[in-house]
Amino acid sequence: MTGFSIRLRKMLLGVILAVSTSAQVFGASIHEGGDVASGEKLFKANCASCHKVTDEVLAAPGLKGIDQRWAGKDALIVKWIQNPQAAAATGDPYIKGLVAKYVGQFGWMAAQAVSEAEIKDILTYVKSGSGASAAPAAAGNACPTIMEEINAEYADSGSSENMIWFIIIGVILAIIGASAANISKSLKTAVNEREGLAPVEDKTYWEVVKSWMWKYRVWVGVSGFLIFVYFFVVGYEKLYRIGINQGYMPDQPIWFSHARHVCENEIDCQYCHSSAAKSKHAGIPSVNICMNCHKGIKKGPQSGEKEIAKIYAAIGFDPATGQYIENYEQQPIQWNKVHNLPDHVNFNHSLHVTGAKLDCKQCHGPVQTYTVGRLAPIEEINAQEDVEGLIKLTKPTLTMGWCIECHNKAEIDLKSSDYYVEMHKRFQTSDLGKKTFEEIMKDNAVTVKEMGGWECGKCHY
Ligand code: HEC
Ligand code: HEC
Ligand code: HEC
Ligand code: HEC
Ligand code: HEC
Ligand code: HEC
Repeated sequence: MTGFSIRLRKMLLGVILAVSTSAQVFGASIHEGGDVASGEKLFKANCASCHKVTDEVLAAPGLKGIDQRWAGKDALIVKWIQNPQAAAATGDPYIKGLVAKYVGQFGWMAAQAVSEAEIKDILTYVKSGSGASAAPAAAGNACPTIMEEINAEYADSGSSENMIWFIIIGVILAIIGASAANISKSLKTAVNEREGLAPVEDKTYWEVVKSWMWKYRVWVGVSGFLIFVYFFVVGYEKLYRIGINQGYMPDQPIWFSHARHVCENEIDCQYCHSSAAKSKHAGIPSVNICMNCHKGIKKGPQSGEKEIAKIYAAIGFDPATGQYIENYEQQPIQWNKVHNLPDHVNFNHSLHVTGAKLDCKQCHGPVQTYTVGRLAPIEEINAQEDVEGLIKLTKPTLTMGWCIECHNKAEIDLKSSDYYVEMHKRFQTSDLGKKTFEEIMKDNAVTVKEMGGWECGKCHY
């Protein structure tokens, strides 16, 4: 090998090295060059429950500007996301500041199971700023109006307590009235006695009422008849609608607002109702789930500290010190059940959420506009415009007719599971199967009913 070629190779190597390091310096950092779409998905699934992409603080600092705050620390930010405490152990001064500022308020960020490539996608998405502008548009700008209504609702939620006071005052007045009538009667008797007249006839109230009714018998008869008709109609309606509680929305021990969490803060349904995708029940979140965020968020924009304090009382947390109280007897929050199918019915969430890929709103309505849980009336469900492929039904939600009607209308995607693919194959192998299949496919669709979704045993124990 000649000295010249060696020098040439060294030069080349130098150029390559220079190019690669300058690439590191001029831009190709971990905050760029990833896939924004994939980053958005990963961010929403892993980070959005605590972080916003703006500079707003949710249950953690907003991530806007992290490319500058962590400039030149690519390896370190990866380490932080995958294992915050290990990253802090490096003694980096920026992380020291971060820990001092936030760990007391929010606790340690949980280690995230994301790869370096995935982190590149996430950070590229954060830097792109697309999440910051797209989010309010997606929520349709309806949130401010909804929140206004809901805030007003909280403001006068004390009125039912006022009602009780009105009733109590009413009863007291009635008692005073009755005893006053008694007093006036004995006064009259006393006066009569002095003037030598017969004492006031000692009639019971019932006798007084009876003679009054006799005097006005026509009016009493007519109004009695009207009252009877009214109660008959209402009672019939009630009987007819047994088990149908459209719009049912019981009070809850905490003024929890779905609108505040889902609409305004875009928290995914499954962050709180996490078992909906995997099991029969969607489940109600435990107090620990609330604490993921409310360790830091101690005050609500509408209810102040009053409602969030109930979370702390349930789990035993002292917001002043930011510490859990030792040996505290925890009191789980007693949420009132809203949806309640009879025991003889078998309903399974994962089958509908994961299997049939139905949107929660298909069955629960515009939950993002509700405060506490509510049994959505069917009209409200049908009026939704933001649910893709909404199946419009007519029967009241949660009745047998509702389940049956949807099973008659909902089409099954035959490629959605191995089970259906296998069934499909088997149909083709026998004449009877082929014939049945042709029958089913007359309308070019397979409905749940045609797959057995109307069989009593599928829904009843
Ligand atoms: C359970 C809540 C939670 C989740 C989920 C979470 N973080 Fe964090 N993150 C925090 C908290 C809290 C802090 C502030 C430091 C601390 O208290 O540990 C933080 C800090 C950070 C910081 C430093 C912010 C700054 O201003 O320098 C980055 C970067 C970060 N997180 C990225 C992520 C990414 C990326 C994800 C998703 C893969 C994620 N976090 C998921 C809670 C969370
Ligand atoms: C993923 C984070 C997160 C979780 C989990 C969470 N919250 Fe919240 N919560 C928030 C945010 C954000 C706010 C609004 C704070 C603000 O705007 O100042 C809030 C506000 C509130 C408020 C005040 C509402 C108002 O308008 O005054 C209450 C009460 C509340 N949450 C109760 C709960 C309960 C109960 C749970 C558990 C079942 C829970 N939260 C779980 C993030 C969360
Ligand atoms: C096909 C209709 C349907 C879909 C889709 C659906 N649900 Fe339900 N949901 C129901 C019915 C029916 C009940 C009542 C179950 C019972 O009483 O046993 C219910 C009950 C619930 C409850 C009360 C607790 C429980 O587990 O019984 C919650 C919370 C809930 N659903 C949340 C969700 C969420 C979140 C989603 C979306 C991920 C969802 N649901 C999707 C029909 C549906
Ligand atoms: C921050 C946590 C949180 C989020 C996010 C959340 N929920 Fe809830 N949800 C609750 C809590 C707590 C209750 C129990 C109190 C109540 O009924 O309001 C509840 C109740 C419900 C109920 C009634 C349960 C019953 O007793 O039958 C339904 C249905 C429901 N949620 C559906 C949804 C849907 C759909 C979404 C998404 C659009 C959603 N939730 C998002 C916390 C949450
Ligand atoms: C909005 C439409 C819809 C509603 C409402 C609905 N279902 Fe379904 N259901 C489906 C779909 C779609 C499937 C098929 C799931 C799949 O792809 O495997 C299904 C499947 C089922 C199955 C399995 C059927 C089989 O052949 O294995 C049962 C059981 C079931 N539903 C029960 C219920 C009950 C009980 C209710 C009422 C409380 C109900 N469903 C309400 C759409 C609905
Ligand atoms: C897709 C699910 C589904 C199928 C299939 C189904 N049912 Fe039901 N059934 C229900 C639900 C849900 C209720 C509860 C309705 C309520 O509480 O209002 C119910 C209630 C009932 C009741 C109690 C009376 C009432 O109206 O509350 C009887 C009886 C009944 N079903 C019989 C049957 C018979 C017989 C079959 C088969 C021909 C059948 N069901 C098929 C879902 C189903």
